[in-house]
Amino acid sequence: MGIRIRNDQAVISLDGEQTSYIIGIDEQYGVLHLYWGRYIRNLEDFELAPLKGLSTFEGRDDLLPEEFSGWGGLRYKEPSLKVSFADGTRDVRLFVQGLEADGDILTITFRDARFSLEAVVKYQTFKEQDMIKRSVAIYNKEDSSLMIEQLFSGEWNFKEGNFRLTNVSGKWAAENAVFRKEIPPGKMVLEGRKGITGHNHSPYFMLDRQASPDTGDVFFGALAYSGNFKIEIEKLPFGSTRVLAGMNDFDSRIELASGASFESPEVYFGFTQKGHNGASQALHSFARNFLIPQSHRSTLRPVLYNSWEAVRFEVAAENQALLAERAAEIGVELFVVDDGWFKNRNSSAAGLGDWYPDEKKFPKGLAPLIDKVTNLGMKFGIWIEPEMVNRDSYLYRMHPDWVYRFETREGTLSRNQLVLDLTKEEVRNYLLYALDHLLTKYDISFVKWDMNRPISEPGALNLPEERRQEIWFLHNKYVFELIRELRKRHPDVLWEGCASGGGRVNFEAIQYFDQFWPSDNTDALERLTIQSGFSYAYPVKTMSCWVTDSPNSYTKRVIPIQFRCHAAMLGAFAIGSNLTGMSGSDLLILKKSVSEYKRIRSIVQEGELHRMETEEKNFLGFQYMKENRAVIFVFKHGGGARDPFIRLKFKALEPARNYCVALEGKILFIKSGDYLLYEGIKLSLNKEYDSRMFEIFPKMGYLYRGEKKNRF
Ligand code: DGJ
Repeated sequence: MGIRIRNDQAVISLDGEQTSYIIGIDEQYGVLHLYWGRYIRNLEDFELAPLKGLSTFEGRDDLLPEEFSGWGGLRYKEPSLKVSFADGTRDVRLFVQGLEADGDILTITFRDARFSLEAVVKYQTFKEQDMIKRSVAIYNKEDSSLMIEQLFSGEWNFKEGNFRLTNVSGKWAAENAVFRKEIPPGKMVLEGRKGITGHNHSPYFMLDRQASPDTGDVFFGALAYSGNFKIEIEKLPFGSTRVLAGMNDFDSRIELASGASFESPEVYFGFTQKGHNGASQALHSFARNFLIPQSHRSTLRPVLYNSWEAVRFEVAAENQALLAERAAEIGVELFVVDDGWFKNRNSSAAGLGDWYPDEKKFPKGLAPLIDKVTNLGMKFGIWIEPEMVNRDSYLYRMHPDWVYRFETREGTLSRNQLVLDLTKEEVRNYLLYALDHLLTKYDISFVKWDMNRPISEPGALNLPEERRQEIWFLHNKYVFELIRELRKRHPDVLWEGCASGGGRVNFEAIQYFDQFWPSDNTDALERLTIQSGFSYAYPVKTMSCWVTDSPNSYTKRVIPIQFRCHAAMLGAFAIGSNLTGMSGSDLLILKKSVSEYKRIRSIVQEGELHRMETEEKNFLGFQYMKENRAVIFVFKHGGGARDPFIRLKFKALEPARNYCVALEGKILFIKSGDYLLYEGIKLSLNKEYDSRMFEIFPKMGYLYRGEKKNRF
């Protein structure tokens, strides 16, 4: 079991195979954090030393490393819980009421000193994965309602300062640029306020002090919440650091009626000594094994084609049929019609809300196209954006009051659309009916669920006035309720999450979407950074990567087809090119890449990802490793012919084993693991946008003794 309790019940360790997260329970001080890091065997050594404040302005409560702090008394640090009671009391004093360990689950119940408010903090250990899950539930056992003004899911205390934070920063079409920054005195806040995660940051943290990519201590935690999030990292004047992660309290209050309870989103956290690559690998493996939807957890993602970049809104039965023929010829397994297929959808200005085929574009409905696609041996998929409505739609004309709004304001359009008020039951019923009907009527195997604007004028007018600030939380809740119900009714459908690219990627959405569209930017060079940043926390299997046309439609950059294919092979390979306009030679390379990808995709999608560092600039390398087989992609993105050499040191091989190194399916040479790990190979890439895909697998049988010279 992953929980050890000391005999006096004062010290508890939440264990992984290699790690311990240790807390102390004290009648006077409450539940305190004692230790997090490498495994510690003897819990007897821990002491709960009495703590004193430093001055009248730095009281004891602010110094206590509390596992769950309530805002009350002399606490000025960011609290996990802030509440206002019906009588106007805005102060919580939490005392431990009960403690229960059951298998891998530890439950600690706190109670307010005066009011019947309970906070239940639940930890679950995942020993093999060295990960812990935590959530908090608040119970109002008072006769009157109370207001939750702030509730964080996770609170972590570190004795040390001088941590560096790793996260991503970005914007639309430029998501996921990894940054690493030392925490300055004061607070660093990463947040989303747009109703979804957004494109700017991702709701997780990785903290280190001097880790390198493959070694060194990294503490990490990820929030399973897709709405407005907040991660605060505070460097205290006492030499310590605190981290809080949870729902954003901005413009948000949750009313808890008498007898009601509220459960926070979950957080997952862990510690590794294997640097940032180790933290990524731990999050990937946890998400792949426990979070991604069970129905498609063990299946590999299909090679898909998507129509968006080829035809944009000009989707029609004929052009889709032609694209489908080409797609089938090159080995595509799933053909997806993106935006533009439904009633009056000729631009972003009309149609959202009316989820049935446009008769001009599809005079006989979608069935003939779906039949064609399935007869060609592919599955069929479709794009939707259910949370939205255009003013120019039947839905809006019939129900102009179905959008979030304030009576005194004109709704602000963004991408010509407004956001449907999902707090209204009739709106949710309509969406469930319309989407269920679509999925029942047609043989649809894949849905891309898009969300192309943030929420504004967040007036949910049907809610009682005191509950209207719950809209941020409720919108998110109802989106996933809807998807959960649709998944239940149509269990075979594969779902892709998208919000103008990577605006809704997080550890809650990953439990509903089998994969994500990480960015609208499909420039293969820029995708390398975007995809590498995406895969810092999220597993490669969930990362959809398209090969698109050159020059790229967004950046106009010209990149050879092989590089574009290799860049798309880094995740769930897909194609977004206009296949009817592509040259024969490019189509051949694309076809070959599809078949190569199918051969190696289980290693890419389910293997361990190692980002490879090279001393040389202008190169990027990614190694995927599954059951001792590796696939390595190397990309050259600058430097030219005068700077062609790169020394490539492989990772995670067994030093004493011999390995075959193959390029394009042919074995180049056989070398020992230690040679490939420590000496590496010298690779020559002459041209800009040159790229290679190597495969490495163990040589079976006798020991390799000689060396064969090979040029590659
Ligand atoms: C934004 C998405 O990111 C694109 O891939 C595409 O689906 C468009 N929306 C369609 O409107």
